[in-house]
Amino acid sequence: MIIANTIQEVRAHVYGWKKYHTIGFVPTMGYLHEGHLSLIERSVAENAKTIVSIFVNPMQFSPTEDLDKYPRDLESDKAMCRKAGANLIFYPQVEEIYPKDFYSYVDMEGLTKELCGKTRANHFRGVCTVVNKLFNIVAADRAYFGQKDAQQLAVIKKMVRDLNMDIEIIGCPIIREVDGLAKSSRNSYLSLEERKAAQVVSQAIFKGEELVKSGEISAKNIIESMTKIVQTEPLAKIDYIEIVDLDTLEKIQEVTKPTLGAVAIYIGKTRLIDNFAVY
Ligand code: PAF
Repeated sequence: MIIANTIQEVRAHVYGWKKYHTIGFVPTMGYLHEGHLSLIERSVAENAKTIVSIFVNPMQFSPTEDLDKYPRDLESDKAMCRKAGANLIFYPQVEEIYPKDFYSYVDMEGLTKELCGKTRANHFRGVCTVVNKLFNIVAADRAYFGQKDAQQLAVIKKMVRDLNMDIEIIGCPIIREVDGLAKSSRNSYLSLEERKAAQVVSQAIFKGEELVKSGEISAKNIIESMTKIVQTEPLAKIDYIEIVDLDTLEKIQEVTKPTLGAVAIYIGKTRLIDNFAVY
């Protein structure tokens, strides 16, 4: 497995591979867990070559967010990538991606302003910009993203459509802990007590999904039931619980078409997101 720190190195390898092979790409911020692993394994199964990027992208963090304490463990990440069969890790320094004279951004109206966009101003501008750059560097045929970040997945799919980017975006299922908590690098922030409290997040998601599957169409009723579950936990504070259109991410009153039930909930200081999608 190759470790490339510069854009030039990545391009030199990709240039050779592109002629004969399909390339799958898994963009990450490192501190890999089974969720990432499932993306890498899928890419390895579907492509001749798999590239994983590990880059904690400063542009998608606001000044009050957790950039400095974002967890990192390159050695463990390398071992996981190697075991999963990745061919190359792109591990650039910040200056490689954002040189001093960097002035160009990719931004999006509409769905970036919903859900997490309401409290995380500029987050999706940072995500769109870095993903665009990474796509240009890696020149993959397919890129793999987790459904756990449902809004990010919808935004990337829209960006690729809007800008006619020549890459296929593949969304992969949420991977959960035994008690239901969606796998996330940020779970490592939780104390033992908070980790236990965090169960209400997935419990609310499962309840919402169960209600929809049993025929409940009122978004209000679904949100109320989900809210009640979260409110049983004193350490939990709701950022949002919403029922939205799966494509536009706009709020809906009734579940009659593909729908996303999405939550962001603080457990102590840690903000956790989770969701269910019905098609
Ligand atoms: O999902 C993530 O880890 C990041 O948002 C991504 C897609 C790697 C962009 O920095």
